[in-house]
Amino acid sequence: MAATAVAQPAAEDARSITAMAFVTDTVAQGRISSDLFSLTLGKASIREGSIDTALALSEWPRDLDLLIVDLGGSSDPVADAAALKTALPGSCLLIGVGRINDVALYRDLIATGFSDYLALPLAEGAMSRTVDRAFEQRERGGGPAANGKAANKPRTLSVIGARGGVGATTLAVTLASMLGTRLQEEVLLIDFDLHYGSLMLALDLEAIDALREALDQPDRIDALFIQQVAQKKSDFLYAIGAEEPPGGGFQARPHAAADFLRSVHRRFRWIVADVPRGDPVIQRQVIEASTDIVLVTDLSLPGVRDAMRLQQLAHDVAPQAQFHLVTGGTLDPRRSAVKVADLERTLKRKVDCQIPADVPSALSAVNFGKPLAEAAPNSPIVKALRPMVAALERSDDAPAEKGASATRAFMRFTQSLKLKRK
Ligand SMILES: Nc1ncnc2c1ncn2[C@@H]1O[C@H](COP(=O)(O)OP(=O)(O)OP(=O)(O)O)[C@@H](O)[C@H]1O
Ligand SMILES: [Mg+2]
Repeated sequence: MAATAVAQPAAEDARSITAMAFVTDTVAQGRISSDLFSLTLGKASIREGSIDTALALSEWPRDLDLLIVDLGGSSDPVADAAALKTALPGSCLLIGVGRINDVALYRDLIATGFSDYLALPLAEGAMSRTVDRAFEQRERGGGPAANGKAANKPRTLSVIGARGGVGATTLAVTLASMLGTRLQEEVLLIDFDLHYGSLMLALDLEAIDALREALDQPDRIDALFIQQVAQKKSDFLYAIGAEEPPGGGFQARPHAAADFLRSVHRRFRWIVADVPRGDPVIQRQVIEASTDIVLVTDLSLPGVRDAMRLQQLAHDVAPQAQFHLVTGGTLDPRRSAVKVADLERTLKRKVDCQIPADVPSALSAVNFGKPLAEAAPNSPIVKALRPMVAALERSDDAPAEKGASATRAFMRFTQSLKLKRK
């Protein structure tokens, strides 16, 4: 039998999958147990219970790869599912089971980050196939939640203005809106300038007090909090911003922004951060936590000087991040003191995108309280940004992480076992 045939994985980097299940139905428990046998080397923890039991657990194994949970008995399965997803380690795959056979429920669960949902009773081998598919999807950097994109690869894109008024906020909003539409995925904009940020004003949304609280105590952020504070602007665009009183000081504790971003990434894979210049502590923390950085400067002497200094900061604190250099369009380059070639020579790199000046489009975005890409879709600004948005999307397909290759080796190993047994 498989139990004796399986000693240790053959591949050197293979490891077994750590899996748990909370299921009430005893027949389903048996099916899941036998379906998970080879993947877990017989060590899956199958428990009597449902999503309520799972939610009552205060601690989860850090290396948990897979959780199967019975949604039966829950009065609000989607809210419970979102809360559970938030509580689990980020790399853990979640599969739901239940008596309800409803496409709308399936879609909602996928949107909260579940890999799949199976209606009971389970056919023989159905769970095994579903688990294989979920891991394979993750290996490929895909997943239903991200509409074919790397569901598990969080991206924080920071937009930093080298000087005031160079168009950083406009750029952050336009990029977030274009990314959401292109990826068909919800993108969250965060204005980290708690005192003077203008992002919420630009989108005609309400600033909230909770952002400061969340930065103070990121461990208290849960699915419900994010649902309450992230304001929806359009199908794929959400935003959070504050309006702290001018006199009130705020000193972010170490790693506050990184902890906050990590929590919010459980709900939003893509975050676009509008990074303040006036608060060096938050500025540095957000840059440190970024996977992608867009530095926008004007073509002035102070602009070049500060772009150089910020490029150095990004290089020092976020060497892992993809860096993009952009010239802002608030001034006509023909009237600028510095030429693009001068900027490139000084920063020793090419400019990735030159945003043209387009005052009517910028004005109509402001007047409608909408992203420029929606208010003026034919603007040359949108056209100029398209290659950059495409490049950001392409970098979603970067190779999977190290841990994933161990999982893949083990998947190959168990698949070969299954073939041998046939
Ligand atoms: N490409 C552009 N062409 C014309 N006007 C623009 C362009 N980009 C932004 N603007 C306008 O310039 C002004 C400043 O833009 P924005 O608020 O985006 O800059 P910022 O760098 O974020 O400023 P702050 O330093 O205040 O945060 C706004 O009125 C905006 O509508
Ligand atoms: Mg701004």
